[in-house]
Amino acid sequence: MKLIVAVDRNWAIGNEGKLLASIPEDMKFFRTTTTGNVVVMGRKTLESFPGKRPLKNRVNIVLTRDEGYTADGAVIVHDIEELLAKLEDYSDKEIYVIGGGTIYNQLLKYCDTALVTYIDDEFKADTYFPNLDKDESWKMADSGERKEHEGTVYYFRRYDKM
Ligand SMILES: NC(=O)c1ccc[n+]([C@@H]2O[C@H](COP(=O)([O-])OP(=O)(O)OC[C@H]3O[C@@H](n4cnc5c(N)ncnc54)[C@H](OP(=O)(O)O)[C@@H]3O)[C@@H](O)[C@H]2O)c1
Repeated sequence: MKLIVAVDRNWAIGNEGKLLASIPEDMKFFRTTTTGNVVVMGRKTLESFPGKRPLKNRVNIVLTRDEGYTADGAVIVHDIEELLAKLEDYSDKEIYVIGGGTIYNQLLKYCDTALVTYIDDEFKADTYFPNLDKDESWKMADSGERKEHEGTVYYFRRYDKM
């Protein structure tokens, strides 16, 4: 299992249900990486998408504790155990954990690769990702080249589980 996330300098990932920044090349990277594969997300992240609709051309698996929850075009699971069992149906695809904070925190231990868009800036935030630079079980394998969008500097980085 892999994860894909955009963080700022403080490893912040979101504020008031929204992303911190909108970088077109990052959105494109996210789309091309995850398309044709499986994306795993929390209910709040699903509801942050336009129209609260699942992402096209991907298997969307959504975690919620609400047994009555439905979302057209999404596979719903109610705990981590059910998620892991469901993922066995998709062994021919890559699995990407796509957030948000609660889901990254619970699934980090199952991931072997983290694709981290590092945004070299600081934003007001209420949701964070664990700082992989301070976690000895993770190592930055690719620090990425410096990129810039409208004055915002960012890097596509990869971390591998040791
Ligand atoms: N920067 C990035 O790359 C990135 C990526 C994704 C999201 N985000 C941001 O992150 C924020 C959302 O993150 P969040 O942490 O608030 O919410 P979230 O992780 O997207 O969703 C939380 C919800 O997931 C469900 N859930 C969590 N653990 C569960 C479990 N073990 N079993 C069953 N259901 C479970 C619960 O749904 P119920 O309440 O329905 O039970 C919970 O309320 C937003 O600001 C979003 O924009 C950033």
